[in-house]
Amino acid sequence: MASWSFPHGVPLLGLLSFTLLLLLGLSSLLPRSRAMEVVHVVRKPSSPEHELPVFREAPAFRNGEECREAGRRREVIHVAMTLDANYLRGTMAAVLSILQHSSCPEDVEFHFLSHRLERELFVSIRATFPYLNFRVYRFDPGRVKGKISKSVRQALDQPLNYARIYLSELIPGDVSRVIYLDSDLIVVDDIAKLWDVDLLGRVVAAPEYCHANFTKYFTDAFWNDPSLSATTFRGRQRPCYFNTGVMVLDVDQWRRGGYTRKVEEWMAVQKNTKRIYHLGSLPPFLLVLAGNITAVNHRWNQHGLGGDNLEGRCRKLHPGPISLLHWSGKGKPWLRLDSRKPCDVDHLWAPYDLYRSSSPSLEE
Ligand SMILES: *[C@@H]1O[C@H](CO)[C@@H](O)[C@H](O)[C@H]1NC(C)=O
Ligand SMILES: *[C@@H]1O[C@H](CO)[C@@H](O)[C@H](O)[C@H]1NC(C)=O
Repeated sequence: MASWSFPHGVPLLGLLSFTLLLLLGLSSLLPRSRAMEVVHVVRKPSSPEHELPVFREAPAFRNGEECREAGRRREVIHVAMTLDANYLRGTMAAVLSILQHSSCPEDVEFHFLSHRLERELFVSIRATFPYLNFRVYRFDPGRVKGKISKSVRQALDQPLNYARIYLSELIPGDVSRVIYLDSDLIVVDDIAKLWDVDLLGRVVAAPEYCHANFTKYFTDAFWNDPSLSATTFRGRQRPCYFNTGVMVLDVDQWRRGGYTRKVEEWMAVQKNTKRIYHLGSLPPFLLVLAGNITAVNHRWNQHGLGGDNLEGRCRKLHPGPISLLHWSGKGKPWLRLDSRKPCDVDHLWAPYDLYRSSSPSLEE
């Protein structure tokens, strides 16, 4: 897992700061392998990755009376998200929204998947949510190196976007169900309701969109090749689009069924054989699971609020009840708010923004 070794010709300065760190005893805060990562940080102090935004401390969210009732099954709700300096503001808002709307917020445990075990990220979350139950796992980008093919939008090609495929390998073996969430969303309902969905024996539960034109998620090269198109969805219900930013996963079944490998196999077809889709990590999920998932009410993923993948135009909300708002697409609410050209829907995200802005107009 986390490791660091001295490259050949390591600069003396690096060695010096390493020694200094040891002397200062900072490394004792972390297991030895992670202390090595700290050295890495010290050697590159000006890297923008390490200049994290500063956040206000969130209030403590405590379980309500109903959570204490005798005999109530106290089940931990496992939520997995990626953790990345670039999306940290989104992650913080998402976590706050989940806690704020949970009747039993202390029952929620967060599993963050990160490229590096950066102490800064850990400290930032701990400082913002002092009472949060969370763990950080390292997702080795090398796991998908050479497997990613270029998509329509560069942001979709980040290795961390593919981490959800490896979720079952990263989180502890005794976690059998997990809710995977993207970092550009807010939950405005009790997440326990999503946790409690009946998976009906399926591996994934998610809102399905059968009105979306499923054909356009794959290229003509896919549809015109009968060895692919005629067999892929055989034996399933009508395949429909689903968004992989909100999924309830039966991780036990995922592991037993070797689903990580199944998704990887399609990525290999895309990379090595022919271009069968244009998007990033989503299409291989559709190829493995579309038509074989359990549908969840649409209220649990009002997606596309970031506009389309290319221009990030403003989108209106679809009618109907909403439990989760998702800024998938190019536009992100924090960027649009900062640029002072927000879309109407971005004002729904703003109350969850914990970013300690230096600009007073954005406070409150
Ligand atoms: C559908 O999913 C189940 C697991 O939930 C799996 O056993 C089955 O093989 C899948 N069927 C198809 C046709 O993919
Ligand atoms: C779906 O998209 C495909 C490919 O772009 C197109 O040929 C087809 O007519 C569309 N179907 C519908 C029902 O709009």
